[in-house]
Amino acid sequence: MGRKTSKGKEKRLQQREEALQIAAAKAVVDKANAQEDPLAPFPAFRNFNKNGVEATLSCVKSENIDNDTWNWIFNLLECNMKPLYNSCSWGWNEKVKKEELTDERALYLVARDKEGKALAFSHFRFDLDYGVEVLYCYELQLEAAVRRKGLGKFMMQVLELMGFSAKMKKVVLTVLKHNPDAMNFFTALRYSLDETSPEDNLYEEFPYVILSKPNKKLLSSV
Ligand SMILES: CC(C)(COP(=O)(O)OP(=O)(O)OC[C@H]1O[C@@H](n2cnc3c(N)ncnc32)[C@H](O)[C@@H]1OP(=O)(O)O)[C@@H](O)C(=O)NCCC(=O)NCCS
Repeated sequence: MGRKTSKGKEKRLQQREEALQIAAAKAVVDKANAQEDPLAPFPAFRNFNKNGVEATLSCVKSENIDNDTWNWIFNLLECNMKPLYNSCSWGWNEKVKKEELTDERALYLVARDKEGKALAFSHFRFDLDYGVEVLYCYELQLEAAVRRKGLGKFMMQVLELMGFSAKMKKVVLTVLKHNPDAMNFFTALRYSLDETSPEDNLYEEFPYVILSKPNKKLLSSV
């Protein structure tokens, strides 16, 4: 039996350390996902009233979304995003999109007016991303009539509040490069290129970037 080198031992220790870190990060994500309503601790952030838009926010698990709301979510997303998806290598695949939207891990922040009419939604998840605990914003979609009135910014602030208070290390999202409204919006909200964002090279050009905002309180451990 050969003698194990100290290099081999170092590697095993490093692997064990990494496994412990991922297990700890997963426990934080599981705890965030176990919350019945991640918005419940922040009642002051349920209401938006600015620039002529009055909205009430609620946070709902995908399993609790009713059929009318699903239809509105699918239609708004298709109306806002299908042309953008179809004008790049992603393409629009309704089946895949619906599977992503209805996944049991999906959470929704929904804004409605006084009559209960839906105005905007965000699909988000507490998840591990490359072993790091994050709030991943999959979608932020507003009806055209309520855009540019501060509602999108408010909803992102609510996502950050829920994410950072649940000890997520960052809020992460994917944006198509040829969606200037969204690029300008997230830049204005001080989102910047995430370290996991792919870089174009000689062989491949990516139509999207990954942006993120760190949890400043946990910055040292990102
Ligand atoms: C992108 C989107 C979510 C922004 O939400 P919004 O409520 O319209 O944005 P806000 O009013 O909160 O804007 C906050 C700031 O972002 C910037 N911004 C937002 N939209 C912008 C635009 N179209 N052009 C330039 N800057 C913009 C501005 O600095 C703005 O502040 P200001 O209005 O005081 O100048 C919304 O326009 C939308 O739903 N678009 C269609 C779907 C989409 O593209 N979603 C993003 C997918 S990743």
